[in-house]
Amino acid sequence: MTSIAAEVIVETEGAVGIVTLNRPSALNALSIAVMDAVVEALGGFDRDPGIHAMVLAGLPKAFAAGADIGEMKNITGGGAAEQQLANHLSHWDKIGNLKKPVIAAVSGFALGGGCELAMACDMIVASETAVFGQPEVLIGVMPGAGGTQRLTKAVGKQLSMEMNLTGRKLAAREALSFGLVNRVVPVESFLSEAKKLAHTIAAQPPLAVQAAKASVREALDSKLSEGLSFERQSFFRLFDSQDQKEGMTAFFEKRKPVWNGK
Ligand code: CAA
Repeated sequence: MTSIAAEVIVETEGAVGIVTLNRPSALNALSIAVMDAVVEALGGFDRDPGIHAMVLAGLPKAFAAGADIGEMKNITGGGAAEQQLANHLSHWDKIGNLKKPVIAAVSGFALGGGCELAMACDMIVASETAVFGQPEVLIGVMPGAGGTQRLTKAVGKQLSMEMNLTGRKLAAREALSFGLVNRVVPVESFLSEAKKLAHTIAAQPPLAVQAAKASVREALDSKLSEGLSFERQSFFRLFDSQDQKEGMTAFFEKRKPVWNGK
């Protein structure tokens, strides 16, 4: 196990990289230092050929209760917010742009920047105690790291409006019913279930996984005809890979394929 900072724990388990937010005294509030460390760790895993999937986990009581309000409280107007926070907020997009899949393991509070961070990941495994929300309006602002955009794409306009305009929070089961999370599990197993999902993905051919991830992400950004064209080109490119030959040969030889990531 290595640790970039005590507040962010970085470890690996086979081909899965795990980053755990560990700032319990502030319910994992996402300070500039914490987000720098998270992006550094996940970026390192994204570049590491030995890692095929990642888990971004919180603690049982909190995934993250938002950006660090203490760091924002005294920011003045006149462009100071952009100057001081633009780089910080770009970290959520950097996580959204990673090539390898990232599973968020969420228990307890996932609020504001915490909800935005979970949504920037590719899938969310939630514990029964997870609570999702964009309560920024209650402290005089609005989401700045994707809460009005990713939440709207995930749960639709009506509910996103309500959450963003009133601070309404969603309990785990509600989040599941609205498609915000992949599954809800007992709090004791939210991390192990997230790791299990990551290991299942890590066992698949990496080039195909990354191409499929990029193509699903494209669906969020483009109109259908552009997305379909993106998908078709990605599909064709996979026929240049050794893993395509291996996968299809193994199918007819009735054996398990052995992927080499090429
Ligand atoms: N930033 C800094 N510190 C935070 C924090 C945050 N976002 N959330 C909680 N904390 C701190 C509290 O100040 C408190 O510290 P002390 O013990 O030193 O007083 C500690 O964590 C525990 O918090 P509470 O005592 O408030 O715990 P609670 O169980 O009574 O309430 C809570 C939990 C409902 C999550 C409440 O802490 C809360 O409402 N937090 C703020 C949520 C929020 O507004 N998030 C949005 C932030 S802005 C943002 O994220 C912008 C963006 O889009 C990027």
